[in-house]
Amino acid sequence: MDNIFWKYLDDLPAIPEEFLTNIPSLDIEKETQIVFHDLERGDPTVKNVKYSRYDLNNSFTNWLKEHIVDHASSYGIAYSYSAKYPVSHSPHIDYTRDYTLIYNLDPGNDNDVYTSFYQEEGSPLEHPLGTKIKNHNKLTLLDSVKIDPKRWLILNAKVIHGVSEIIRPRVSIQLGLHKGDKFTF
Ligand SMILES: [Fe+2]
Repeated sequence: MDNIFWKYLDDLPAIPEEFLTNIPSLDIEKETQIVFHDLERGDPTVKNVKYSRYDLNNSFTNWLKEHIVDHASSYGIAYSYSAKYPVSHSPHIDYTRDYTLIYNLDPGNDNDVYTSFYQEEGSPLEHPLGTKIKNHNKLTLLDSVKIDPKRWLILNAKVIHGVSEIIRPRVSIQLGLHKGDKFTF
């Protein structure tokens, strides 16, 4: 069976270093917002962060349109980190995109940083945008991947997914795609 959760796209070109050495709007000292779980949302000791998103400059966006895909719904940098704790993106469905094309600059941990995919008991595998998880205690882990830095990967954001555990700034270039777009499955 094909993997319907994620796929490396190694035919796509690496992002030229000139775009990565001076990312102007990225303030790496900034701490992303931490949300503590309540009991309904699963393990109360897990510290959950939201991504901060930053726009890319025009020349970087134009390079991505020319060399990667010209019709993405968004082109940006995602950043997450806490100086105080290891943090996670708890399992969720994305609000704005069916698929994410991701290029990690720093995955946020050398060893144990996993993007994991889940199914909620009694629910379908894929969900419409923005679907809320009813009960985090009823998730079954289906697959996990350590996304290598500087390799393009497409992730199925309609399947419940999350990231743990981030111990230093996690920085990635992310493009949003919708079902039927190039690369989607
Ligand atoms: Fe997501």
